Amino acid sequence: MAVHATRTAEELEAYCARLRGAGLDAPWSRPGPLIPPKPTATQARLWRWRDIEPLLRESPDFLVPHRGAERRVLRLHNPGVPERTVAHSLVLAIQYLLPGEVAPAHRHSPTAIRFMLHGEGAYTTVDGQKCVMKPGDLVVTPGMAWHDHGNEGDEPVIWMDILDWQIVRFLENLTYEPYPDERQTVGRTPGRDIFHPWSETYPALLRRAEQQHDPFDDVLMEYVNPATGGSVRPTVACYLQLLRPGVRTRAHRETSCAVYRAVKGHGATTVDNETFEWGPGDFFVVPPRAAHAHSNAGSEPAVLFSAQDVPILKALGLYRMEPVA
Ligand SMILES: [Fe+2]
Ligand SMILES: [Fe+2]
Repeated sequence: MAVHATRTAEELEAYCARLRGAGLDAPWSRPGPLIPPKPTATQARLWRWRDIEPLLRESPDFLVPHRGAERRVLRLHNPGVPERTVAHSLVLAIQYLLPGEVAPAHRHSPTAIRFMLHGEGAYTTVDGQKCVMKPGDLVVTPGMAWHDHGNEGDEPVIWMDILDWQIVRFLENLTYEPYPDERQTVGRTPGRDIFHPWSETYPALLRRAEQQHDPFDDVLMEYVNPATGGSVRPTVACYLQLLRPGVRTRAHRETSCAVYRAVKGHGATTVDNETFEWGPGDFFVVPPRAAHAHSNAGSEPAVLFSAQDVPILKALGLYRMEPVA
């Protein structure tokens, strides 16, 4: 405890007790800087699909809801994050749905972004717009949009959910409401603000690969909300990225956090001093301010999907990107 020039430590303690009684605090009564540096909770880490998939396929033996099957998810757990989520700002959950299973209609304040991984027959209905999800399709469920989903196929389906849950939770605005019926009435065809089919995004990425390359990300395309011209949500941006064979990108740091899913091909990402070699289905996380660079040493293009908290950082004036020499 810092000792005041004219008062004793005991007198300062008594003064602090009076402050507490009045609902006040004097940060200068404790040693250390006013804004202490804090290392990020999110750690760089890789999850292999070959470890995840068998555990996921076993999960119905332990949880058999049929109705309410939205609970059967496995979340990527970053060992540094106390809430057991993939990163301090984002949740990544892998959903496993058996044939005939449904998640009754509901809505909640966090946004949920679904990227379809495996199987045919899955759908999500968002505000009356039924999106039939094929592998690689992206469905955006904005916070407070009614949604329900299910598996109408004859094999299990797997998708990943990205949620801005942690951001909404920090702002103490988590809410959840069930819809009066199990399913919504389906009306409109899905708008481009919520549905981005792989049949359109992947050819667009291949066209971009012919034309434009970025030193840090090689071929990077952001999913855009046509209604705003900006990121899919104010909190989260999604990207599809291609690394051409032989490419090694320049190392850089960003103040944002990124969660990646390797969609096709093989590559490696160096995060600070660790190199993660990834293949189809693997996931990895790049924490804020970590130096990172991607490479593709193979002979086929590698494709990555990522969700990043860039828009919320931009809105707060906190987004920075700098090359690492
Ligand atoms: Fe939901
Ligand atoms: Fe980056």
